[in-house]
Amino acid sequence: MNSPLSCKNLRLFSKSVACKCLALVAIALFYRALLLSYAPGNAALDKITSLIRAPYISDSGRIRTDKFLEVPQIVWGLNNQKIAFARACLTARLMNRTLLLPSLSSSLFYKEIDKLRPIPFDKVFQFERFNSLCSGFVRLAQFSDVRNRAQRFDLEKGSGRRWTVERDLEQLKQSSRNGSIDEFEVIRVIGKNPFLWHDHWPVKEYAKVFECMVVVDEISREADKVVMKIREAGAKAKLEPESKTGIESPVPFVAVHMRIEIDWMIHCKKLEQRKKVSEICSSKREILERVGNISGLKTPTLLYLAVADSLLEEKEEDSSVLSGWRDGLIPFEKKKLGVKEEIYGKYSYLIQSAIDYEVCLRADVFVGNSFSTFSSLIVLERTQKARRLGFVSSCEDGGGENEWRSYAYNLAGESKRVPRRWMTNMTDSSLQAISYGSNSVSCSSE
Ligand SMILES: *[C@@H]1O[C@H](CO)[C@@H](O)[C@H](O)[C@H]1NC(C)=O
Ligand SMILES: *[C@@H]1O[C@H](CO)[C@@H](O)[C@H](O)[C@H]1NC(C)=O
Ligand SMILES: *[C@@H]1O[C@H](CO)[C@@H](O)[C@H](O)[C@H]1NC(C)=O
Ligand SMILES: *[C@@H]1O[C@H](CO)[C@@H](O)[C@H](O)[C@H]1NC(C)=O
Repeated sequence: MNSPLSCKNLRLFSKSVACKCLALVAIALFYRALLLSYAPGNAALDKITSLIRAPYISDSGRIRTDKFLEVPQIVWGLNNQKIAFARACLTARLMNRTLLLPSLSSSLFYKEIDKLRPIPFDKVFQFERFNSLCSGFVRLAQFSDVRNRAQRFDLEKGSGRRWTVERDLEQLKQSSRNGSIDEFEVIRVIGKNPFLWHDHWPVKEYAKVFECMVVVDEISREADKVVMKIREAGAKAKLEPESKTGIESPVPFVAVHMRIEIDWMIHCKKLEQRKKVSEICSSKREILERVGNISGLKTPTLLYLAVADSLLEEKEEDSSVLSGWRDGLIPFEKKKLGVKEEIYGKYSYLIQSAIDYEVCLRADVFVGNSFSTFSSLIVLERTQKARRLGFVSSCEDGGGENEWRSYAYNLAGESKRVPRRWMTNMTDSSLQAISYGSNSVSCSSE
């Protein structure tokens, strides 16, 4: 993945090219001055200067490193923020511009603007790593890379019903074609946060951006600790009945993204009415039964319940998610694992979600709700991993191991009482189809 042509090498390379150019230009200028014995005009000089300053050429030669796109602060939940970020990247790509490092938001408040608590992108995701993984596709830069911040064009996105997808795309294309706009060093999009922008890109392009988003080491270490705690708890559970055998292979664990908090239930009931479908909300009972019926789970199996616990806490429901599971499934949530205060408690909302996301990503089996963005993005990333291992379809439930299995508990599988296998259809033409408001999940990535 790591291209041998790192940024550093490219920079060195470009420097030497720039030096040679400079030398040639200097020689040319010298002769020209000799021959004509007057200085070249301003326009010619400008042209030469711009040649010398021409940025190094990225892999595909299209993302300009001296033209930038700036976007409004990115808000809401972790996954909405990831989608918003990817959308901003793809917008910058459309304009062949470098995206200026946007601010994410560390808190969930979205109505009170003053509580949005901006957090720089590179406090959550690795900046250099992003550029090296996404090299030639999209590019990020710091604000300090901008030469003249006053040289900025404000591009206002339209809104309302008449602001259609087509008009939006046309506006973006127009403004990159329009020389007097494209001339600006920075184009700043103002108005809505990028999550609310119209979507113009296929799933594959989003997936590519997501792949370049690697969490910073601190977050990944915390996720490792949580996974270790889960596996330890699993090893204990396994050892008790037959403690002579010792620890063999690591105990597999299943992560379940349970959405049963009141707010979600109200939201999803409304959604069911609006969409006239009945498979969005799953009761706790339905989740318990369907997860319990997943084939091929060895017992005992550890369940990690990823629940929106800040919401549950207020209602003292913590203990109830732990009860009612079938024999052989041993449920844990953060408190019972002993990671609630020790690990999660140290961080803001956004970082907590990022840790939980990483934990679910690493699970042997993941079960989520196909109407949740959090679940959908996890499945998307797991599908990418499965594809790399050669699994493009999971339609038959072979109960195999190491294939990054995922399920949607809100949808019935072969029978009403089993969950449906779930893979992201990577050929879908828009993220909408796979990320929010969908109950037509695929079991194949092609
Ligand atoms: C962006 O790059 C593509 C491919 O090189 C090119 O066709 C297009 O004209 C460029 N657009 C702008 C605004 O530079
Ligand atoms: C280019 O954009 C400028 C600034 O918005 C505008 O005044 C001008 O009419 C546009 N030119 C064309 C050819 O669209
Ligand atoms: C699913 O689980 C229920 C109750 O736990 C059980 O009665 C049923 O037979 C199971 N169905 C399948 C297909 O395994
Ligand atoms: C994936 O999406 C494409 C485009 O929407 C569709 O044609 C195809 O049938 C889907 N594949 C599966 C396996 O659902």
